[in-house]
Amino acid sequence: MSETYPPITEHLDDVETARDEGRRKMDWALQHMPILQALREEFESEKPLDGQRIAMAMHVEAKTANLVELLALGGAEVAITGCNPLSTHDDVSAALDAHDNITSYAVRGVDEEGYYEALRATLDFDPTITVDDGMDLVYLVHEEYPDLIDTIVGGAEETTTGVHRLRSMDEDGELKYPVFAVNDTPMKRLFDNVHGTGESSLATIAMTTNLSWAGKNVVVGGYGYCGKGVAKKAAGQNANVIVAEVDSRRALEAHMEGYDVMPMAEAAEVGDVFITTTGNRDVITREHFEVMQDGVLLANAGHFDVEINLEDLSDLAVDQYEARDGVDAYEMEDGRRLNVLAEGRLVNLAAPLSLGHPVEVMDQSFGVQAVCVREMVENGDAYDAGVHDVPDDLDREVAEIKLEAEGIEFDSLSDEQREYMGSWAHGT
Ligand SMILES: NC(=O)c1ccc[n+]([C@@H]2O[C@H](COP(=O)([O-])OP(=O)(O)OC[C@H]3O[C@@H](n4cnc5c(N)ncnc54)[C@H](O)[C@@H]3O)[C@@H](O)[C@H]2O)c1
Repeated sequence: MSETYPPITEHLDDVETARDEGRRKMDWALQHMPILQALREEFESEKPLDGQRIAMAMHVEAKTANLVELLALGGAEVAITGCNPLSTHDDVSAALDAHDNITSYAVRGVDEEGYYEALRATLDFDPTITVDDGMDLVYLVHEEYPDLIDTIVGGAEETTTGVHRLRSMDEDGELKYPVFAVNDTPMKRLFDNVHGTGESSLATIAMTTNLSWAGKNVVVGGYGYCGKGVAKKAAGQNANVIVAEVDSRRALEAHMEGYDVMPMAEAAEVGDVFITTTGNRDVITREHFEVMQDGVLLANAGHFDVEINLEDLSDLAVDQYEARDGVDAYEMEDGRRLNVLAEGRLVNLAAPLSLGHPVEVMDQSFGVQAVCVREMVENGDAYDAGVHDVPDDLDREVAEIKLEAEGIEFDSLSDEQREYMGSWAHGT
């Protein structure tokens, strides 16, 4: 435990009730996580992480908690904190902290100083492995705890924004230990970013506002993996989808998918709901707010709260008030009200009613995280400092566990087919 920053238990009045409630949430999630269940059996009996110390900065809610518990059951000691001040569930954090091998510093709603102190607390614990969602830990290790670099075996990164940061650090020659880009592997990105972000963002926005999608103009900022999921699910709810993109090929993909494509400046005039999914900053700014209709909803599903420029919005507003839980109305001089959800933080995790991605989706992502941590422990020496793709056999291992759990059988290549596919000698 850190000497300078207290764990969750010291922030709560009724620790026992919180632990019970957190446990209940974790048990419900685990029932629907066949991949983590299968890995639990393996990790509990073989203890592949014995002697490891894992620092984690992730969204501390029930699904992540099952990953944390899995790593602890595999023999590791774990110190965890949140990767977003609004996504922590305090009860789950307390349930985790009840383990002998786990200390949780995650507390919902901490200010910026508390957020960074909690990150430092996980590093004060001298980790041998880091598991990040957004790269805050790797950054802090290199900036403030360089002595740890020699003893850290490796790390794993969960999200697109974290992998972008890692890759640019790597290009500058500044990344001093190996990190798996979990985000980029098919078993994560094709499911979590697309279906997870799509389903959970739309569900959260609907629950937070009690409004319908049908017939609305939904403007999706960015047509990457997350944007595709948001667009597809919104279209499935009978919304009219408009895509704003900066990449020509992705703009064309959106067009061929049947969506309207236009610059954000034009979309701003006609949109009813705006959802940003770019990982970039200033996607919606003053010029857009100036032309939006009364009553629009503004939500962000990208990692950081920089996609909707709230400074610009505050500047323009003559009044600001909480219209509903999780909805801040900004009133313009001409009476228009622009409604921001979850303070512009990633809506599917930070809004009061949000539950994050569906459990089944996170089972896959966290299955990949777990096998990556196991791989770093078992074969860490094989990886140089830098960003590494998840080895394909590990990615497939997770897919196969899931298919088996679902009772789904699939075909395999015959020897002749394998030879045919692997040969350049076969022509017409
Ligand atoms: N909400 C969640 O639960 C969740 C889950 C996974 C990833 N993420 C985050 O979502 C973000 C996007 O992830 P992704 O995997 O879709 O990334 P991606 O790189 O596949 O897609 C991002 C898209 O945004 C476009 N873009 C960039 N700047 C733009 C701008 N100014 N205007 C319009 N389009 C712009 C890019 O061209 C790209 O097509 C990242 O921050 C990632 O960390 C969130």
